[in-house]
Amino acid sequence: MKIGLTRAYHFCAAHRLHVAEFSDAKNQALFGKCNNPHGHGHNYRLEIVVRGNLDQTTGRVVDLAALDTIVNERIVSYLDHRYINEDIAEFKTRIATTEVLGEVIRERLLAVWPVAFPKLQDIRIQETKRNQFVIPSSD
Ligand code: NI
Repeated sequence: MKIGLTRAYHFCAAHRLHVAEFSDAKNQALFGKCNNPHGHGHNYRLEIVVRGNLDQTTGRVVDLAALDTIVNERIVSYLDHRYINEDIAEFKTRIATTEVLGEVIRERLLAVWPVAFPKLQDIRIQETKRNQFVIPSSD
């Protein structure tokens, strides 16, 4: 039997929604106040969902401390209190929407995901209380 675990993390960051190839007017029409020149902040809530076999020795599905170390080092420390558009290398050529942020988080986690870990199932990232994006680890 596979068991799922959802672990929550938080970070604060700023972004601006802007497509460089579009005119200022088109960006404003497309993104509204999210296109304002100096960005705006969010308190992001990140959920990491893993699913795997119960370890019969430990009675757990994952080593939570090991999971926390990976997520904190690769994601939370990397993004917390940053201006995503300018401070985060992956966004030099990508749009700083929360959907894309979720893709970047997936890439950064899969690059170091231990083989001994249960499967990374989903990344859920909540930008506001009304928006949560769900990024599956594979298509
Ligand atoms: Ni925003």
